[in-house]
Amino acid sequence: MAEDRIVAGQLKSDDLWDRALRPQRLGEYIGQEKVKERLSVFTEAAIGRSEPLDHVLLYGPPGLGKTTLGHIIANELGVGIRFTSGPAIERPGDLAAILTNLDDREVLFIDEVHRLNRTVEEVLYPAMEDFALDLVLGKGPSARSLRLDLPRFTLVGATTRAGMLTSPLRDRFGVILHLDFYPADELAVIVTRSAELLGVEVEDGVALEIARRSRGTPRVANRLLKRLRDYAQVRAEGRLTRTVLEEGLSLLDVDLRGLDAVDRRVLEAVGRRYGGGPVGLETLAAAVGEEPGTLEDVVEPYVLQMGLMERTPRGRQLTLEGYRYLGLEPPARQTLLPLQETDPEP
Ligand code: ADE
Repeated sequence: MAEDRIVAGQLKSDDLWDRALRPQRLGEYIGQEKVKERLSVFTEAAIGRSEPLDHVLLYGPPGLGKTTLGHIIANELGVGIRFTSGPAIERPGDLAAILTNLDDREVLFIDEVHRLNRTVEEVLYPAMEDFALDLVLGKGPSARSLRLDLPRFTLVGATTRAGMLTSPLRDRFGVILHLDFYPADELAVIVTRSAELLGVEVEDGVALEIARRSRGTPRVANRLLKRLRDYAQVRAEGRLTRTVLEEGLSLLDVDLRGLDAVDRRVLEAVGRRYGGGPVGLETLAAAVGEEPGTLEDVVEPYVLQMGLMERTPRGRQLTLEGYRYLGLEPPARQTLLPLQETDPEP
């Protein structure tokens, strides 16, 4: 099956690693049951009608399997897939070149689809709706427009920020699927599957312990497994025991809740430098030496979900649980919680 990453130089070692462990079909994909069931029905229906699958938008935090699902969709449809990303398509002509080169019913995967620029997006609208490319020939009063037919295709757009999609673009996706963090028991199944594929022996209960420290994210779980495998190989004759787990995690600076050094730096900055907040995103990002986008996409989704920090209109602030996590004394209660209406004392 054709697999062609259009954007050069984007293949990181993590991608290669993910690729080896990536499930190829829906039946091998663990978790996200609703998403799988919908995709299974919609792909089967499209195949039955010999039509391309309607365009699919996948959104959710990084590392949950959006790219993997792109591959799976193509495999289930029995078609090829081409990869690109929003920022890589600079000009309308770049997109036109990609679209005109697709095969019938092929999948075009656009990562970070919220980062397409407006002129490129405008080429995409008729392409998605009518499989057509509108060209303008000439300039001024003599300009003419010409409509070219395109191959029928399925756009799979992936984004961590569905809210940043323009509404005309969002409206053109017929299938919108949200991926959520995985519960630890499902991640443990993923870790066990990956360990088998890698031929690593894992002591009972250790897969679940890895899962608990993986921020609800298969990519993190697989990465931890890979690093612990290294540790086991060098220090414990290859067996991933509980001792290897504990020593390895301490070497990796991953704590009991799966927070790493960057997460802790962010929480410490809010807690100690800004007195628990609120502090604006840009200020916080500068304080910890990260990009605001990294904070929003990578650190915040999990830290917010764990209830350690919250977003308020005035900025980020620690929750009571966040203070507890850092071992800090929380300030007076009313600055943390909205004032509650209480019944008058009897
Ligand atoms: N590897 C990464 N994500 C996975 C998933 N959801 N199921 C199986 N293996 C995976």
